[in-house]
Amino acid sequence: MMFLKNSTMPLNNKNKQILLFDYETSNYVIATFQEFAYLYFLDKSNDYSSFALEYQSVFNLTDDEYKNFESNVKFKYSTFLKSEGNKNILKDIDLNNFLIETPNNDQLTNRLENPSSYIIQLTTRCYTNCTYCYAERKEICDIDFSSVYKFLQEALQKNGKLFTFSGGDPTVYDFNNLIKLIRLIYSYKGTTIIMSTKNPNLSYEQFVELRNAGMDILQFSLDSDRPEVLENLLGISDGKKYLDRIVDSISNAVKAGLRIRVHVVVSNKNIDHLEEYINNFLAELPLHSIEIVNFKNSLFIDNGIFYDNSIEMKLQLIRDKMKCVKFKIEYAFQMQCDLSGDLFHYSRCGAGNSLMVISPKGKAIFCDTVGENDQIVLGDINSNSIDEIWENYRLDKIFDKAKSNKKCKSCDMLDRCFYIDNFRCLANVLRFSNDINDIDTNCCYYN
Ligand SMILES: C[S@@+](CC[C@H](N)C(=O)[O-])C[C@H]1O[C@@H](n2cnc3c(N)ncnc32)[C@H](O)[C@@H]1O
Ligand code: SF4
Ligand code: SF4
Repeated sequence: MMFLKNSTMPLNNKNKQILLFDYETSNYVIATFQEFAYLYFLDKSNDYSSFALEYQSVFNLTDDEYKNFESNVKFKYSTFLKSEGNKNILKDIDLNNFLIETPNNDQLTNRLENPSSYIIQLTTRCYTNCTYCYAERKEICDIDFSSVYKFLQEALQKNGKLFTFSGGDPTVYDFNNLIKLIRLIYSYKGTTIIMSTKNPNLSYEQFVELRNAGMDILQFSLDSDRPEVLENLLGISDGKKYLDRIVDSISNAVKAGLRIRVHVVVSNKNIDHLEEYINNFLAELPLHSIEIVNFKNSLFIDNGIFYDNSIEMKLQLIRDKMKCVKFKIEYAFQMQCDLSGDLFHYSRCGAGNSLMVISPKGKAIFCDTVGENDQIVLGDINSNSIDEIWENYRLDKIFDKAKSNKKCKSCDMLDRCFYIDNFRCLANVLRFSNDINDIDTNCCYYN
């Protein structure tokens, strides 16, 4: 059984199950949370902490369920590490325990009653001005504090679990207000905040404030240790000084009790020294984990930066080597190039099913990579309730298959693609078309 991480969806039912797509058999599989965890670790590149971060929070597990899950999964995970280099773990898991069935159509609704996950763009401002950024940042704008606070209270009451503070750089938003938002979210049980920064100016006292507000893992985005590469990627003038300050920041943040993840965006600009960067530089820092993701084209900047199959192959080789080397830190690799072409249908987007995105102007938008495109502004936190906004996120309200591309019109998967699974990435669609109903250029039927 093979499944793809991106194809998973928490099901809208009380049994805390997850819908997986098995791409060997093309069947849907419903697995419990624990079964899903075992499957997740069959891919040795996945680690416990990234699992907990990504999936634990989207389910409302009771204390007992979580304890049980944690001891079980940690045990499996350590067995799994010991069996490195062979497939012992497969023996250890009784695949017969998996509840495998193709659900009825009415179970095949991926849409949750309320969003479980939110991306909130707090500001468009940043310390850097990255040449590869996917965010829409042409106007300076900060989200109104009292509106976003009220919005988050409502989201939390409606069982929102995973909150990503994005932007712009969330740490250049008014810092006292940022702390209030973090405190609010962590006052609710089972919530997680993902927050990433490139800000080299944060002080030890600010890290202590973040920690005291409930933050556990803070993410720094750092794509290279080469000053000239940083200057080129981040639009800064002194890469060496910047790098030194980020290294100091990481050590101050650790002293303040935070765990640090470094996030690396891979592109043609850093692939050739990536392995050296990880082994000689990142491995020496006091990190909790490293997350390596592929560059995605931006709709807003054309910058000569790219990620293609040849880069993906190099990344694959690095990832395989990492599995053989024991490090004190954990890695998560995300490679997406092969999600185009034949594997297009294994990708999913959570927008409209589990995810809501709020722009710095307080508009509900489909995705932060497409910005405030008029066709997909779906509400306003200043004047709409979450229920009203979420109703506008219904995929069948947003997309009109009658207006779709002629290839889509004759495609067997049109309903699933447009209304159930959300295969298409709107950033890919809008890069080549003004119409949100158009074909995704990554789809294997495109050419
Ligand atoms: C939009 S940023 C917001 C947080 C913060 N400003 C930062 O850069 O860490 C969120 C994450 O997306 C990454 N990112 C930005 N543009 C990207 C792109 N075109 N492809 C892939 N990742 C990108 C950033 O490096 C960062 O880790
Ligand atoms: S990647 Fe982050 S820091 Fe860089 S411009 Fe985009 S939002 Fe700002
Ligand atoms: S993008 Fe169009 S052609 Fe491709 S799977 Fe979706 S509906 Fe079918």
